[in-house]
Amino acid sequence: MQSNIDIGKVLLNPKKFVGKDIEVCGWVKTSRESKNIAFIEINDGSSLKHLQIVIDKSLITQNTKFMQLCTALRIVGSCVMGQNSNLPEINAKNIEVLGECPLDYPIQKKPHSLEFLREHPHLRMRTNTFNAMFRLRSILSEAIHKYFWENDFLYVHTPIIVGTDCEGAGSSFYVTTHGYSHGCNTEQEYCQSDFFGTSAYLTVSGQLEGEAYALALGKVYTFGPTFRAENSNTTRHVAEFWMIEPEVAFADIEDIMEICTQMVKYIVQFVLDKAKSEIEFFEKFYEKGLVAKLQSVVQNEFIRLDYKDAVKILLDSKKNFEYPIKWGLDLQTEHEKFLADQVYKKPVFIVNYPKDLKAFYMKQNEDNLTVAATDLLFPGIGEIIGCSERETDFAKLLNAVESRNMKLADYKNYLELRKFGSAPHSGFGLGLERMLMYISGISNIRDTQGYPRAKFELRV
Ligand code: 4AD
Ligand code: MG
Repeated sequence: MQSNIDIGKVLLNPKKFVGKDIEVCGWVKTSRESKNIAFIEINDGSSLKHLQIVIDKSLITQNTKFMQLCTALRIVGSCVMGQNSNLPEINAKNIEVLGECPLDYPIQKKPHSLEFLREHPHLRMRTNTFNAMFRLRSILSEAIHKYFWENDFLYVHTPIIVGTDCEGAGSSFYVTTHGYSHGCNTEQEYCQSDFFGTSAYLTVSGQLEGEAYALALGKVYTFGPTFRAENSNTTRHVAEFWMIEPEVAFADIEDIMEICTQMVKYIVQFVLDKAKSEIEFFEKFYEKGLVAKLQSVVQNEFIRLDYKDAVKILLDSKKNFEYPIKWGLDLQTEHEKFLADQVYKKPVFIVNYPKDLKAFYMKQNEDNLTVAATDLLFPGIGEIIGCSERETDFAKLLNAVESRNMKLADYKNYLELRKFGSAPHSGFGLGLERMLMYISGISNIRDTQGYPRAKFELRV
């Protein structure tokens, strides 16, 4: 007899198992019974779909507490094709209760709101929605690695604890071993007596180190956790998220936008193929038209719109935006959504932002006003990717650091990359969770992660 067979394997390839005795394990998802027969469906996490177990009550006389939702079971029985369903099922010969699940299990059968489920991060993973989400998240991660590996990028690991603020946005978390009562008089004194003898932060982006890798290894990417202490309590910001950051030597802004486009199309096609049942689930319960939306991303060109033209479209729309817009002001979510959701209804690259709106490392355009940078906006979400060519001119970069009052000593090595064999290079950052929101139709970023962290929200 074959022991502990993945339910996903039985459902995918029933021919291999029908007519045989097999052992499966899983948690009860549904149960119903008549006088003589009970039906339960179990899931072991290896598939979105459940496996039906048919129980002749006169045969199973041991522990009968196997009907409760979420009870953990080990079942031995013969695999047969269901009479009406055309799906394999198991006629149970033996049922072992591995873990009972009493009635105070908080996630009972009735549909719970996503808000309610967020209160139970350790248990919501067992619901169909989160089964689908974490399956999709894993497949999307696979797609991203595959794209870069197939295109000869090296996967590099940048540090989590850093000494600089890459984005210069002042939203870093400090890393410290000091307790509450540290008895230091100045910040300098405080940091000097700390673990590293200097201030240390959690990374807001692996880009600065990624650039050093790229200027040695050519085409690299990182895929790791990123931390931002932003004060934005929105449905698309979290304090801890995962970012994918390719960095490419000898590439200009046009080259990197092409890579960005190809990567997005590749990963969307990959999930359409490999996460078919998960996407169908999200289409059914969360976003009508999801499959068609994703197919259109693969099939159609992305829009390229100059920042100044975007501002003109926003002004000409005469819409009553909450935040004002004119040249020199940042695009707010409402502006991004208007452009992507209502004007174009597809992904839009906004290019050539005013330099004062963007980070210090972006390549300054010849007009001296704008930078070779682009955000890729998606309908329903807004920005999912931030992308730019990097400034290679030592003097201009130095000036950008100084004019932003950034601590020069922290960027000494970064500047040195422009001194020794500097070369054009470009890169982008893709927020994994925002991409997951777009691909699943889930509208709160907290529902794309197991344990979301946001301001005043840290559930264990
Ligand atoms: O636009 P950002 O800040 O770009 C960078 O960090 C660059 N250093 C990337 C690079 O060029 N290597 O962030 C990139 C992406 C955003 O477009 C967004 O998808 C995601 O990271 N992101 C967040 N996702 C969730 N919560 C937050 N607080 C996020 N902040 C950024
Ligand atoms: Mg950005």
